[in-house]
Amino acid sequence: MCGIVGYIGEKQAVPILMKGLAKLEYRGYDSAGIAVISDREIAIHKTTGKLENLARKIKGMTIPGTIGIGHTRWATHGGVTDLNAHPHASCKRDLVVIHNGIIENYQELKEDLLAKGHVFQSETDTEVIAHLIEQEFDTLPTLSTGNPLTEAVRRALSQVEGGYAIVVLHRNRPDTIVAARMHNPLIIGLGKGENLVASDIPALLDYTKVVCDLENGQMAEISKNSVRISNLQGKEQPLVTRTITWDVAQAEKGGYPHFLIKEIHETPAVLRDVLRNKIRRGSINPQPLGLEGLDLRKINKITLLGCGSAAYACLYGKYLLEKWTRITTEVQVGSEFRYHQPIIDGSTLVIALSQSGETADTLASIELAKKAKPMRTIGVINAIGSSMTRQVDQVCLLQAGPEISVASTKAFSSMIVSLALMALHIGKVRGVQTDDSFLSEINRLPELTSKVLEQEHEIARIATYYIHHQDAYYIGRDVNYPSALEGSQKLKELSYIHAEAYPAGELKHGPNAVIYDHFPIICLVPEGHVYKKMISNIQEMKARKASILSFATEGDTRIAAHSDHVVFLPRTSEEISVMVNTLAMQLFAYYVTLYKGYSIDQPRSLQKYFPKPGEITAPPKSIDIDKPRNLAKSVTVE
Ligand code: F6R
Repeated sequence: MCGIVGYIGEKQAVPILMKGLAKLEYRGYDSAGIAVISDREIAIHKTTGKLENLARKIKGMTIPGTIGIGHTRWATHGGVTDLNAHPHASCKRDLVVIHNGIIENYQELKEDLLAKGHVFQSETDTEVIAHLIEQEFDTLPTLSTGNPLTEAVRRALSQVEGGYAIVVLHRNRPDTIVAARMHNPLIIGLGKGENLVASDIPALLDYTKVVCDLENGQMAEISKNSVRISNLQGKEQPLVTRTITWDVAQAEKGGYPHFLIKEIHETPAVLRDVLRNKIRRGSINPQPLGLEGLDLRKINKITLLGCGSAAYACLYGKYLLEKWTRITTEVQVGSEFRYHQPIIDGSTLVIALSQSGETADTLASIELAKKAKPMRTIGVINAIGSSMTRQVDQVCLLQAGPEISVASTKAFSSMIVSLALMALHIGKVRGVQTDDSFLSEINRLPELTSKVLEQEHEIARIATYYIHHQDAYYIGRDVNYPSALEGSQKLKELSYIHAEAYPAGELKHGPNAVIYDHFPIICLVPEGHVYKKMISNIQEMKARKASILSFATEGDTRIAAHSDHVVFLPRTSEEISVMVNTLAMQLFAYYVTLYKGYSIDQPRSLQKYFPKPGEITAPPKSIDIDKPRNLAKSVTVE
């Protein structure tokens, strides 16, 4: 995920670009850059680090120009270096491009361009676009109508596979910005005597409230007084506008009331990016999984490391790795493992999971594991440039984009998808797993998860029945046991309801004792090989007068008879039902919390709500705060 902004008008572009980038920094903050045209020359300034580094770099400089573009980067292809920062220029520096997305066939395109004599400055996929447009612009026949830059961009994009939002400037067309979109967001802001383009609305709101959302496959030719929309085939399209009624604070959350619900809603798009990056032309690509160059037949043991939700993702990984690879797989919680004497040798693969890449216990565990000289350490990480990315041998990026809310949602979903793909790939290479049905089903995840989001209203309605409870159990079997753990984690950390998860068969070994009338039990009961066992467990709980909320498969005609409430979710394989259930449980936890009147997004100490020792007070019924208590997004201390 990267942030894009462009401006054309009467005002000086640089302050507008910098202000816009500040609003988009949540989309990426490992490098930033701007390019501005003045006197038919393009000035490019870029640097690694946060936007403040770029601000420091250009402080005191005079960078004139009323047309310019800016970018804040979340690296995917190529390390975090000045050269890899955007904008990227063509060989002659006649044109510059900024890009958000992934060009899947960039290797092939790059080889072809290199053979034609193009010289590359960076390791990014984006730079091929600059050279492709240059090639098309320079060889374009004289057009009777239309703008040659728009036509060159169109021709270049016809050769590109993958996802993009791009914005292009050419020094000989200082009257035009060309933008195009495929799968990555791009919004045009229509002002008076000025127009803007950006990845997200907050970057536009200071200048206009009238916007046009570019659709997939559309291009825009933007001048200071006009915006022309066309498709990738060159056909003119209507300019469809809407007026934004949100204020700036709401806009940063994409119009959602909280980052948490915004991030939950980003899941289908995140999973689409993850799958596009990790599955190439129908086969799993070992390179972005961190598995390339490893003799997978020589692995004797896999150690999975993580904390909190990441550890639950590890447990899901263990189920699939053992099933599909038959390699003994252990899950170790960072805070425990670091004081262990690990059993690791040169045939052990160590995989550590972390959204932040900064969790102290996970970092210490990797350090300890490395001392035992494992075969390889792989970090499954969201935050590029984090300590963990530098610590491990190979990185598998989660590509979830910045996760602002303390409770992990979209990054967790990407973790479990990434581990499933690793398990399948290793199993295939070892000849243990030959069935391709999982791969075709996992490609449906963006569609399946979008269908879960369509149930939001129903989940919110059901949530209202659970807000007065103090306790809850989550139960599941097989791969849906880790999913139950994650569901209970979301409920407790957001709503402060005491929630525990158990393998469904375990309740009778102790936890049953706690159950009282209407005790809520959330049951993960998709159709599959443990369905009947789950029904038996549910009946046992019903007999003890528990309230049953089932997350079940659409079309299941039996489950309602055993449940007080049912959320019907799309039919899929058991392994993938975990991803579907996870999303539904995130929505459930969000709405329970919302209706309890508690806060949702960020950490804050709640000391004042705790009674003094020895002082008996009723727990507060409704705590009117704006952040969950006692939690930090990234736990950098032991
Ligand atoms: C739960 C949550 C935490 C984190 C844990 C590890 O919603 O966010 O349990 O999963 O603190 O954090 P990372 O993944 O950053 O290592």
